[in-house]
Amino acid sequence: MPDRKATRAKRGLILIVEDEANLRQGIADYLTRRGYDVQTAADGAEALARVAASAVDVILTDMQMKGLSNLDLVDALIEKAPQAQILVMTAFGTVKQAVEAMKRGIYDYLTKPLNMDELLVYMDKALEQKRLHEELSSLREALQTRHAFGNIIGKSSGMQEVYHKIEKVAGTTATVLILGESGTGKQMVAQAIHYNSPRSDGPFVTLTCASIPDSLLASEFFGYEKGAFTGAATARAGKFETAHGGTLFIDEVSEVEPGVQVSLLRFLQERQFERVGGNRTIQADVRVIAACNKDLMEEVKQGNFREDLYYRLNVFPICLPPLRERRDDIPLLADHFVRKYAKQNDKTIEGLTTQAILLLMNHDWAGNVRELEHLIERAVIMSDGDWIRSAEFLPHLSEHEALQKEAGFGDNLSLTENFEQVEKYLIARALDEAKGNRTQAASLLGITYRALRYKMNKHGF
Ligand SMILES: Nc1ncnc2c1ncn2[C@@H]1O[C@H](COP(=O)(O)OP(=O)(O)OP(=O)(O)O)[C@@H](O)[C@H]1O
Ligand SMILES: [Mg+2]
Repeated sequence: MPDRKATRAKRGLILIVEDEANLRQGIADYLTRRGYDVQTAADGAEALARVAASAVDVILTDMQMKGLSNLDLVDALIEKAPQAQILVMTAFGTVKQAVEAMKRGIYDYLTKPLNMDELLVYMDKALEQKRLHEELSSLREALQTRHAFGNIIGKSSGMQEVYHKIEKVAGTTATVLILGESGTGKQMVAQAIHYNSPRSDGPFVTLTCASIPDSLLASEFFGYEKGAFTGAATARAGKFETAHGGTLFIDEVSEVEPGVQVSLLRFLQERQFERVGGNRTIQADVRVIAACNKDLMEEVKQGNFREDLYYRLNVFPICLPPLRERRDDIPLLADHFVRKYAKQNDKTIEGLTTQAILLLMNHDWAGNVRELEHLIERAVIMSDGDWIRSAEFLPHLSEHEALQKEAGFGDNLSLTENFEQVEKYLIARALDEAKGNRTQAASLLGITYRALRYKMNKHGF
C-alpha cells in the first residue's frame, strides 16, 4: 500500500541490537507494525556490520551482551554511525552504566522490562532529534564558509562577501566595478559574474586599456569605418559590437583617456555609439564590468578621471581584499596551486610541510595571489621530494624576512596561535581529502571522531 510506504519512509530506519531472540523479534514486530523500517542484530559485531551497510536513524541497543564489552560497543557505534541517535536498554541495577553511556554521547536510555508505549515516545523523540540535527547542520553548512566559488578559491570572510556579491549581481545587467590590487583575482571575478549570468551563452570580451595606445583606444572600443584614418582600408567592428549579447570587461579602466571617457559615458547612459569615422548610430546589448587596481576616486580628485563616469561605473562595486588581509586563505590557495601544478608537471607531491605553510602565511604578498601562484609553480617544478619544504621558498622571499620567519614563524603570532592555525589547516585538509566524511577525516588525522568534532567546533567549521 503506497500510504503505508510513505509513512515508513518518514518514520526512519531502526536497528535493534539484542542478544535475546524473543525480545529482539518482539520489539522488531511491534515497531514494524507501527510503520518503522526495522533491522536487527544479535550481537555487537553484527550491529557494526549493519551500520556500515545502511544509514540507520536510530539504534536501540541492549547494554548486557556477550562479545564486546558494552561501553565499547556504544563507543564503536558512535564512531561508525555518527549520524544515528542511540538509545540503550538497560536492566534495573545497571543504570550507572547507562549514565556513563549518556556521557559518551548516546541519546537516552530505557529500563527493562520495556514499556512499549514508552518505547514509541522515545523512538519518535530520537527521530525528531536526528531531524533537527540534520536541519541544523545543513543550515550551518549553507550559512557557513564556502571554500570556493567556481575556480575562485578562498574561505575568508572577505571572500565570502565577494561570493555573496557575485551571486547578487550576476542575474542583473547592472554595471559592476571591481576594485583590488594587482593579482587579487579581478579578472576571475568578472568571468564568474558573466558565466553565472543569463548572458553566459553570449561572448565575454576583454579590453585591457593599459596595453593600448591612446590613439587606438576609441577604435578598439567602438570600431571604425573604412577610411576613418590612414591605414583603415576596411571597416572593423569594435569590442562593444563583438560583445553584443554578452559582457565587455574593461580592465584597467583608469587608463582610458579623457576623449574616450566621454564616449564610454554615453554608451553607459544610452547604450549606443558610432564607429570612429562614421555617423551611423549603433545599438549594442552589452553588460559592462570594469576593473581597476588604482584608487579610482583618487583619480577623480586628481582630475584624471571624469566624476560622472566614475558614478556610472560605480553602480555595484566589488572590492577584492589584498591577500595579506585574508591570510587564512593562504593554506587553501597554496594547496590548490600545489595540486594544479603537480598535475600539470606530472609529479606526485603530497603537499606543503607545516613550516612551509607558516612561512607563506607570514609573507606580505605585494603581488597577491598571482605572486603566490608563481612561487608555488616554481617550487613544484624544483621539488624532488614528496613534500614541499620551506627551504624551497626561502631564496625567493627576502633574506631578512626568511631569517626572521625561520627563527620563529610569525613575529606577530604567538606559538599557540601558530599551533591553532596549523591544526585548523590540517583539519581542513583532512576533511577535504575525506570529501567531508568526518569519520574518515578523523582516522586520517589519527584522532577519534569525537575529538575531531570538538576541534571542528572550536575552529568554527
Ligand atoms: N581566489 C583565487 N583563487 C584561485 N586563483 C586565483 C585567485 N585569485 C587570483 N588567482 C590567480 O591569480 C592570477 C591573477 O588573477 P587575476 O588575473 O584575476 O588578477 P587581477 O586582479 O586581474 O590582476 P591584475 O590587476 O594584475 O590584472 C591568476 O592566475 C588567477 O588564476
Ligand atoms: Mg587582471
